[in-house]
Amino acid sequence: MRAHEAGALHGDIGNRGPAWLRTPVDVNALVPQLWPRHVARGPAGALTVAGLDVRDLAAEFGTAAYVLDEDDLRGRCREFRAAFPDADVYYAGKAFLCRAVVRMIAEEGLFLDVCTGGELATALSAGMPPERIGFHGNNKSVAELTRAVDAGVGRIIVDSFTEIDRLSELARERGVRPKVLVRVTVGVEAHTHEFIATAHEDQKFGFSLAGGAAATAAFRILDEDVLELRGLHSHIGSQIFDASGFEVSARRVLALQAQIRDARGVELPELDLGGGFGIAYTTQDDPASPHELAKRLRKIVDGECAAENLAVPHLSVEPGRAIVGPAVFTLYEVGTVKDVDGLRTYVSVDGGMSDNIRTALYDASYSATLANRASSTVPMLARVVGKHCESGDIVVKDEFLPADVQPGDLLAVPGTGAYCRSMASNYNHVPRPSVVAVRDGHARVIVRRETEDDLLALDVG
Ligand code: LLP
Repeated sequence: MRAHEAGALHGDIGNRGPAWLRTPVDVNALVPQLWPRHVARGPAGALTVAGLDVRDLAAEFGTAAYVLDEDDLRGRCREFRAAFPDADVYYAGKAFLCRAVVRMIAEEGLFLDVCTGGELATALSAGMPPERIGFHGNNKSVAELTRAVDAGVGRIIVDSFTEIDRLSELARERGVRPKVLVRVTVGVEAHTHEFIATAHEDQKFGFSLAGGAAATAAFRILDEDVLELRGLHSHIGSQIFDASGFEVSARRVLALQAQIRDARGVELPELDLGGGFGIAYTTQDDPASPHELAKRLRKIVDGECAAENLAVPHLSVEPGRAIVGPAVFTLYEVGTVKDVDGLRTYVSVDGGMSDNIRTALYDASYSATLANRASSTVPMLARVVGKHCESGDIVVKDEFLPADVQPGDLLAVPGTGAYCRSMASNYNHVPRPSVVAVRDGHARVIVRRETEDDLLALDVG
């Protein structure tokens, strides 16, 4: 029996796991809210996705791999559209972007939010209609702005006075009138990790509402009349479950809208409430459905507009994580299993912080399951770690896995569609994994695995 098998742990689990994990669960069961919709445990005990056995996927495409359930992603796009029928849904490409995903979201009727020249290039090269692209970012270079203006992107979300000047100069030169939104920092303390909260005052994004910069920016754009001010934008942070932050944000941003009307006689026609809608990474997370979210946001906006005597502006939202996050799991192969006596069992996989930095960076929680077979062995509390030279290289802090997990087994970690491949690195010269899209029993590589030759190709010294 391993040190942390459940039987050995009764009354002895100490502080080795969070309280909610202390009751061993059925390690073969898949909690539906954590998994892409077309993942199941097949008759042989291995996971299947859209009808394909993960053992076959691992054999054909190798591990580590991000496996995307394409119909799950498309379904989430459709749910957002249905929930916000008279709003524009911008997929936040920073969560995960590649040409195939651009095409998927475009086919499903979404718009796209990009925030760098690289994301813009990817979107354009995949044929995303430029008028359906919104361009974000707190430090857009002149080159990036030029490319966006020349491509005819639908709107640019301006984030600083420097950017307003740069863009205005460009607009004059080119004889065009780009559509812009002003990003407003509404001063909301969102209940999420500090690094992913974006609307408290002391941070780099947007124009402060409280300090008056947001109003000044809007007035300057209106008075100069070089850019077309379409509306205001607010994004309060990411992985948020509580609607109260959106409520405060909408109230404040609409109060500014009313102030602009009173001062300049203009009612801005659009309002973007940003993204940040939370998803389930563990059984402890209970996210709202897009439908519930839409209902809450709509009610908040309608109420505030009525209070300010404003016409309800055309809304947009920018979900990233909620669209791609739950549609992907990472498939790893177990390399070593190490019992550290009296402490913990470490299960090492062939990836780690280079393909998922979120655990190390945000103390994020994930779950995992044995993927190539079911097991009737007792569960053990394990920590899933990567292969990097760093003790903080943790993928899943605490998870019950069958005690017979062994080298050569496959592990699947769900909820890795957002901010995993897009934040992946080559730390320790580990090539980044491929992304494999699966649909109706067919699998295709949409982002190929990096090779050592790819790494060496950049090394020109
Ligand atoms: N709109 C704007 C202006 C944003 O800055 C973001 C995310 C989104 C929309 C999409 O947020 P989402 O719906 O995906 O939560 N790397 C962090 C998250 C950073 C989010 C940055 N901005 C993480 O892994 O949690």
